[in-house]
Amino acid sequence: MENVTLIGPFKQLVPLTGLPLKGALNDVQLEVLEDAGMLIQGELIKEIGDFQELKLKYKDAEIQELKGDHTCLPGFIDAHTHICFGGSRANDYAMRNAGKTYLEIAMAGGGIWDTVTQTRKASKDSLIKGTVKRANRHLKNGVTTLEVKSGYGLSVDEELKMLYAIKEADAVSNADLIATCLAAHMLPKDYSGSEEAYLEEIGTALFPKLKSENLTNRIDAFIEESAFSATQIAPYFKKAQAMGFDITVHADQFSTSGSKVAVEFNALSADHLEVSTDVEIALLAKSDVIATALPGASIGLGCAFTPARKVLDAGGALAIASDHNPGSAPMGDLLTQAAILGTFEKLSNAEVLAGITFRAAAALKLTDRGTLAAGMLADFSLFHTNNYQEILYNQGNLKPCVVFKRGAKVFD
Ligand code: NIG
Ligand code: FE
Repeated sequence: MENVTLIGPFKQLVPLTGLPLKGALNDVQLEVLEDAGMLIQGELIKEIGDFQELKLKYKDAEIQELKGDHTCLPGFIDAHTHICFGGSRANDYAMRNAGKTYLEIAMAGGGIWDTVTQTRKASKDSLIKGTVKRANRHLKNGVTTLEVKSGYGLSVDEELKMLYAIKEADAVSNADLIATCLAAHMLPKDYSGSEEAYLEEIGTALFPKLKSENLTNRIDAFIEESAFSATQIAPYFKKAQAMGFDITVHADQFSTSGSKVAVEFNALSADHLEVSTDVEIALLAKSDVIATALPGASIGLGCAFTPARKVLDAGGALAIASDHNPGSAPMGDLLTQAAILGTFEKLSNAEVLAGITFRAAAALKLTDRGTLAAGMLADFSLFHTNNYQEILYNQGNLKPCVVFKRGAKVFD
């Protein structure tokens, strides 16, 4: 048998398979395999089963036998980050903690525009370096796939610089980076025209390049009073969809209206949702849009958490992402944040784990990862414990001891 590796035994392996994409989940629904092994061939999982049985069945396999207690989970998927940026916003953070709001700081010249200025000053190489460094830190924490947005360039050339940097960072980092164009993050302060004119220019001059240079297939917009309105975004999204892009939305962070747009455009996901009411939650739950909670932004801004419990109870699909960015979410630790959201929103282990694995994969339209099963990518992490419940119980402080990405050990 060519190049097969058997790894195990795992005291527990939680494959996260066979669970619905939408709605509440109970821990008894989780399949937990004991003394399991995983057979890897190339980048893929070939088989999962009882370690001793696999050992007998695949006599020629190279064996990586583990000593001690290990629990195996799918590689985590962080479906919303802004880890490509220049500079720091430590000063914004201090100002917020001194009583100024995120929006007040933005009006006063801080906020997103400050990062735009610093990102424009940064060379593409330094953006690549920073992105790889952050991606590798996420990878050590078990995150094997990360979405990464542009949105700190805010001109055709500067957005291209960011998206090339993300593409090159993807080639360097062992994690997979999925790029998203967020040119509609805010109206750039140095743009003399209207919001409509800016969006028209981006759609006309940037969208074709994204396609021809294969930079991204995803278009995002920040729908908010301080950014773009639903009316302004509609023609932009229509154009993007006509060109075959997938849509995702920054929705309901400070005011509602974004989630309605997400549903109207059948977006892959509506992210934030901190101020969503029962009306928006019901709308999302009826749709195929994944509701993505970003606890890192709530922690970074000191704001309410996304009503994740209500989303699930209404029958919605909940993903959980870090939103790692220099402004509202500087921490960038998905497991910690997901565990904390779980305590505040009363989420089961199954709901939290689903939110950072297969439900997050759906938000990125990825069907080859997010669960552990034959034919899926061999992306997984091992934790030194004999009980999977310990992982969220430790609230992010129990880190992976080994991480595999595409069948290769990338951290140990
Ligand atoms: O998802 N909400 C808008 N955009 C980012 C924050 C970006 C920033 O503050 O730099 C977010 O929270
Ligand atoms: Fe964001």
